[in-house]
Amino acid sequence: MIPSISIRLATESDLQPIIQLDALSNPHPWRKGLVAEALQTRQNWLVELGDATQKSIVGWLTASVVLDQSELELIVIDSSFRRQGLARKLIMVWSDAVVQQGVNELLLEVRESNHGAILLYESMGFELVGRRKNYYQIEKQGQTALGREAACLFTLKIESL
Ligand SMILES: CC(C)(COP(=O)(O)OP(=O)(O)OC[C@H]1O[C@@H](n2cnc3c(N)ncnc32)[C@H](O)[C@@H]1OP(=O)(O)O)[C@@H](O)C(=O)NCCC(=O)NCCS
Repeated sequence: MIPSISIRLATESDLQPIIQLDALSNPHPWRKGLVAEALQTRQNWLVELGDATQKSIVGWLTASVVLDQSELELIVIDSSFRRQGLARKLIMVWSDAVVQQGVNELLLEVRESNHGAILLYESMGFELVGRRKNYYQIEKQGQTALGREAACLFTLKIESL
């Protein structure tokens, strides 16, 4: 039987599986404290795989809302479940939810080298509106910084979704 996929809001009890997902599937994993803070202070959605007996978390999106704007802080999909439209689904759920809260613009920043993510955002109508030079460190896990790279700033006016 093919396990079912669902998207739900995260709670603080999801901390450990989110940390595990992020550690394994995000090339730049967050510290535990940052994940915990995101669960406490931001809005978080999870992609869950499985049935009533066994479930696992294969995707996480965390975003903040300030007045009529919402900023994507991070989206991660388990490396084994990529290119199946899960990130696109999560972004749609985030967008639909924050529209209900009065948001009319989505924002995000992404590393200039993250071509897959940039293609995803562009395919959903996000527009490049700026570039912060030398914004992110380029590092290899456990090593010191190898250099810096730019952040690309994207926005999407909700009426265009
Ligand atoms: C970026 C990321 C979230 C995409 O997740 P995903 O579930 O594989 O994305 P989707 O399947 O929804 O992709 C939708 C579309 O985006 C584009 N896309 C996504 N990943 C791509 C890649 N690696 N290369 C090229 N295009 C890509 C494609 O147009 C894709 O449609 P298609 O598969 O029909 O061609 C995932 O690769 C990831 O978790 N990366 C590590 C964390 C990260 O970099 N997050 C973004 C920074 S905040």
